[in-house]
Amino acid sequence: MADIETITGLAKRRGFAFQSSEIYGGLGSVWDYGPLGVELKNNIKRTWWRSVVYERDDMVGLDSSLLMNRLVWKYSGHEATFSDPLVDCKKCKARLRADKIEGNKCPECGSTDLTEPRQFNLMFKTTVGAVEDDSGLTYLRPETAQGIFVNFKNVLDSTNRKLPFGVAQIGKAFRNEITPGNFIFRTREFEQMEIEYFVKPPHSVKPGGMTDDQWHDRWVEDRYNWHIDLGMSPENLRRYEQPREELAHYAKRCVDLQYRFFPDREDPEKQWDELEGIANRTDFDLKAHSKKPADGEGKRLNPDSTADLTYFDHETNQHIFPYVIEPSAGVDRKVLAFMMDAYREEEVRGEKRIVLKLHPELAPIKVAVLPLAKNKEGIVNLAKDIKSRLQRTGALRAVYDDTAGIGKLYRRQDEVGTPFCITVDHQSLEDNQVTVRDRDTMEQDRISINEIERVLGKRLGLSIACD
Ligand code: GAP
Repeated sequence: MADIETITGLAKRRGFAFQSSEIYGGLGSVWDYGPLGVELKNNIKRTWWRSVVYERDDMVGLDSSLLMNRLVWKYSGHEATFSDPLVDCKKCKARLRADKIEGNKCPECGSTDLTEPRQFNLMFKTTVGAVEDDSGLTYLRPETAQGIFVNFKNVLDSTNRKLPFGVAQIGKAFRNEITPGNFIFRTREFEQMEIEYFVKPPHSVKPGGMTDDQWHDRWVEDRYNWHIDLGMSPENLRRYEQPREELAHYAKRCVDLQYRFFPDREDPEKQWDELEGIANRTDFDLKAHSKKPADGEGKRLNPDSTADLTYFDHETNQHIFPYVIEPSAGVDRKVLAFMMDAYREEEVRGEKRIVLKLHPELAPIKVAVLPLAKNKEGIVNLAKDIKSRLQRTGALRAVYDDTAGIGKLYRRQDEVGTPFCITVDHQSLEDNQVTVRDRDTMEQDRISINEIERVLGKRLGLSIACD
């Protein structure tokens, strides 16, 4: 594995990520994804979506808007409580998160002359419409989750779902973090992949039925295994039970999947940080946004809402508020963790080789087609033809490259995690065969050109249709 600094260097050098607005000096902790970064990010999102939506019968997708009525954030509790304690260092003027300071000492200059902590709301304010007063005030969403809760009835009515069922969503979120940093680990604009999984509340679970606690445990295991199935090392991934005092205002329990993002820190506990959180949000959000209470629960709940967000449970013949299990993941942290985990420096014949041993599913480029001689028309044409054939399958990203000698081309592809290189040489024109090189073992074998799709499809674990 590598540390964050090494990955930041590789990311810039090879086009995974660049600082936003770099030519104007950048914008604090906002990043742009480059040609390879966007492929890796899309692969992570696609793999997640397939796993949590397509491969299950109890999930559907949603794509809600970034901007929502301010009342969403009032009733979700974010306006009142989505804040971090902020202190200023009076000596060096650094702005610091009070809960992250050790010994009441500024980590920048060592001064103990700090202001009293005050709450700083992390939501970005914006104004909707031409008049810049409070009537148009709202926020860029700090989580995608609320878009799912306020659409609960729409999804339920349009899909006729029965509990348990879940809604998945991928999208941008924004937080005006006090101390962002560590490359794409903590940024002000980031992307989330969130699931709200609705289950029966404890009082309506029949004997032998699954409780919210059991669903929670199951989601923790499912989400842990997703990472391991994609090749993440179990030594770098762990489950962490959040202590009660760390829980968000809506959570009954939360288990984080933590990754060893900071392997160089002396204190082993400080090496770990959150990759994904899996919370039991109970019925907090649906109740908060509902005009109507559940059966037996007293009077009208939310005077501003027009929606009844209860669910009619045919087993108990009652209107109930489902409980919610929420696996909430950051896409950018996944990009970082998978890159750190896959990074290797190896010694090959006295030379250093950098290789990203990414799972083929995640690799930005699946196959690079390389001509051994770039000035031989027959070789170049054949190589370009193979690249186009692979691209037309629609199943993978293939590239053609003739801008260096073969040794250098192999090293370039290793460094960005391309699982296979196909080399076209003089002999290919005679025997209709090419060389396939495996990124991890560096072994090479000759295969028939007619068999490329079948052989690569099998080795990559993809089903590739033949031309
Ligand atoms: N809806 C629940 C929620 O948003 P969270 O723990 O605040 O929970 C979920 O965020 C995930 O989003 C985190 O596990 C992390 O991967 C990602 N995330 C949160 N803040 C982030 C930031 N400032 N930069 C990058 N990723 C962030």
